[in-house]
Formats: sequence, structure tokens, C-alpha cells
Amino acid sequence: HTLEAGKFTWQAPSNIALVKYWGKEDIQIPKNASISFTLDHCATTTTFSFTPRDQAQNEIEFDIYFEGKKAENFKPKISTFFDRIVEYVPFIRNYSYTIDTSNSFPHSSGIASSASGMAALALGIMSIERKLNPGLTDDYFNKKASFLARLGSGSASRSIEGKLIMWGEHPRFIDSSDLYGIKAPIEVAPLFNTYHDCILLVDKGQKQVSSSVGHGLMHDHPFAASRFRQAEEHLTRLAKVLSTGDVEQFIQIVESEALSLHAMMMSSQPYFILMRPHTLEVIQKIWQFRKDTGSSVCFTLDAGANVHVLFPDNEQEQVYEFIKNELVGYCENGQYIRDKVGNGAKMR
Ligand code: PMV
Repeated sequence: HTLEAGKFTWQAPSNIALVKYWGKEDIQIPKNASISFTLDHCATTTTFSFTPRDQAQNEIEFDIYFEGKKAENFKPKISTFFDRIVEYVPFIRNYSYTIDTSNSFPHSSGIASSASGMAALALGIMSIERKLNPGLTDDYFNKKASFLARLGSGSASRSIEGKLIMWGEHPRFIDSSDLYGIKAPIEVAPLFNTYHDCILLVDKGQKQVSSSVGHGLMHDHPFAASRFRQAEEHLTRLAKVLSTGDVEQFIQIVESEALSLHAMMMSSQPYFILMRPHTLEVIQKIWQFRKDTGSSVCFTLDAGANVHVLFPDNEQEQVYEFIKNELVGYCENGQYIRDKVGNGAKMR
């Protein structure tokens, strides 16, 4: 049957990878398994309104608004998304949509919104499926939401649940899948369940390299095979570290992952440097602070110049002191975002 008109609002979080996804096969099949912290503050909120159509159509009709204004520039990406998912959710052809979306983080902050954005959309669609079939289990709901989100943006598969999400097949984890993210099957030490992520907005400019171009650069990359092997080993080691609470090893793996991601971009053809001078200054300061104080603070990076500063809850005061005194000067307009590990998407 067809539903009456209705709407659902979801708030889906952003995430920060500890072991990075960089390199994929067709339709978002990752070349290596990745793992991320789900964030709490950085999120996309999307209201997904649907109205029945007289006749089912293959081409999905929708209007999209970003922060209250019509956003034609978002249309192609979302159309591609609908085209990819329609075979798994054929009922979407029976409706037309209005999508109203906004982010909790500043527009053009250099923070990618594709993970949280695609996750929020996927959840809206799954809410329709659940309304059509109220018997769906939460497990099915979350897995399929992650599966759909992945088809929009790979890392979006890690933006449905909290707090630590693994995506991609890995020999050590029998439940891991290339098709959707799962809660990391690890007994996580309490320390890592309350981690902080302070995002320093070093460069708020548009990304120089879109992630689809970036993933493409891993085909024919001279170091691709070793990189995928390294990621697999890092995940094996990190899983252990996350359960033992070994912060020193955590730092070593997480920082190495960030630098490897950037090393891949620097050694691809064409090559890119996505770090800025301030990115390097911040890294130096973090290393010096760690040396001087014995702090457990460390950094990670996405495919851009901004720095994610990671630290345990019990160091919150001293690290924010350090950030205010020594790092804010490297941020554009002194801007940074206080975030922490979160529990996943919420219906609003
Ligand atoms: O989801 P995509 O295709 O935008 O890829 C994102 C990849 C990184 O953010 C650089 C790393 C990751 O695992 O999140």
C-alpha cells in the first residue's frame, strides 16, 4: 500500500576515522576496513517530507533546501544517490520529496558534510520503510540505513550509530562487512568512550580534491598495496589498544594513519598537498606539549588542512587551556569546534 503524506526528521552525526578509508572499488566497496569515532556535536539535521504520486516514477522528484534556501547545487549528488538506492528501496518511486537540511557546524568550514548528510537522508528513507513495515528490527533498520548511506558516501556508512564504528571486511572480525558499518565488536576501555575531538579550523576553504577524485588516485598508486596492508594491520593493533586502554599505542597508530593518508595524496599522480603551514605548526605544538607535559593529546586529519585534536576526558581542562593559549592563533578567525564521541543518529 501507499502511505499518506508525512515527514521524518533525523539528526545524523559526522564521524572521524582513526583508521582511514582511502581507496575503493565501484559503488563504494572499500579497499580496506576503517574505524571511526562517531561525533556528537557535528551533525546534519534533515527533514524528509514525502507526498504520494499518482503513478510510480523511475526518476525521483524532489526539492532540496539547505539552511532554508533552495539549493540546486545539491541536486546532482542526491539524484545519483536515489538512482543507486532505488533497487533496494523501490517504494521511494511512489512519492515525491521535500528535503530540508542544515548543519550544526559553520558552512564552508572545510568540514565535510557528506557523511552526516547522506546518513540523515538514508535514515529518512528507512523511516518510510519502517512505516510500511512496522515489524522491522532495529538491527535491520540500522544495517540497511548504513548500507544506503554508504551508496551516497562511503564514510556515511559509519554515521548511523555510535560510538566506534567499523566498516569494511577484515579477517579478524567475522561480522565486518564491505556493505555497511557495524558497532566495533570490541570491548572498549571506558577511557575511549568519552574521548574529545576539538576540531581546529585551520583552513575553511573548499576542498582542493574531492574525495571521489582522491579515492580514484589509489588506482595505479605505486604504494596502494602496502597502504591497504598497513591499514589492515593498524586496525588489528588498534582494536587491541582500544580494549586495553593503551594510550601510547593509540597515539602512535592514529597519528601514523593521518600522515599515511596525506602521504598517499602527496605520492599520487597528480599529487596534492592538503596540509597548510598552520597544519604543520599545530602538529609540532602538539608534539612539544606532549613531550613537556606527558599529556595524551594527539591529532588526526581528514582529507584537508583542519586538525582534529583528540584527548581523554580527564585531560579536558589542561588541553583546552593549551588549545586556547597556543593553537587558536593558527585557526582561521580563531575558530574551533568542541566535539566528543557520540552515540549516533537521533530521530527529532
Ligand atoms: O566518504 P568519502 O568518499 O567522502 O571518503 C572520506 C575519506 C576520509 O574522510 C578521508 C577518511 C575516512 O575514512 O573518513
